[in-house]
Amino acid sequence: MRFVIFGAGGHSREVADLVIAAGHEIAGFQDDQFTGEHRPTGLVVTDGWRELEAEAGTIAIGDTAARDAFYQRLAGQIALPVLVHPSACVSVYARVGDGTQVMQNVVVNSAALVGVNVILNVGCLVAHDCAVGDHCHIAPGAIMSGGSSVGERCLLGSAAVLLPGVSVGADCVVGAGAVVTRDVPDGSVVRGVPGRAESRGDR
Ligand SMILES: CC(C)(COP(=O)(O)OP(=O)(O)OC[C@H]1O[C@@H](n2cnc3c(N)ncnc32)[C@H](O)[C@@H]1OP(=O)(O)O)[C@@H](O)C(=O)NCCC(=O)NCCS
Repeated sequence: MRFVIFGAGGHSREVADLVIAAGHEIAGFQDDQFTGEHRPTGLVVTDGWRELEAEAGTIAIGDTAARDAFYQRLAGQIALPVLVHPSACVSVYARVGDGTQVMQNVVVNSAALVGVNVILNVGCLVAHDCAVGDHCHIAPGAIMSGGSSVGERCLLGSAAVLLPGVSVGADCVVGAGAVVTRDVPDGSVVRGVPGRAESRGDR
């Protein structure tokens, strides 16, 4: 399929590889703030996307609230299929929602539920019975132990760890390298080992 990639920033450079590795073609990039030549692909970045005549799209925006807003904006206008890198391993018993990007060396294990429009970034683990809410970004090397969950629009930072069964609410940020040992309410930021949660509004 011919894909338009929404967003032309840092994440788009990795998503370009993902589209090709998954056996598709890139029609071009759409970005509201930058037009011209995309680096490093040399393809066109436009502020519209219909002229690219793509059959499908994928959202290359790392910020979770912006991902959600963009997804709502595109709803029903273009197909946003799941993209899975050939090096990733996704259980036949897992479910992965539309628009989700599964990058290199990701493992999604049995009975995991991954929402729509999620980034499962390089080398993260979503273990058995985990749940990942819509529009989340699970950053490189993050580990979700068995039965843990994150609500909608969370960023689970690079190399962060959720202990088994721990629930993180919606709209949370778990800092890079944090180890989350107990449940976390909506709208929290967590940092450190063991993870200490505070309201994002208190920062
Ligand atoms: C935790 C985090 C959300 C805090 O962001 P912030 O509020 O902008 O933080 P600041 O950079 O202003 O730092 C505030 C304090 O927290 C500390 N801090 C920042 N990140 C930390 C982390 N991951 N673990 C422990 N402490 C951290 C800083 O050292 C600083 O401490 P100080 O006040 O004693 O100097 C952020 O640093 C982080 O880890 N984000 C995840 C990034 C990531 O993994 N992205 C994935 C990209 S693919």
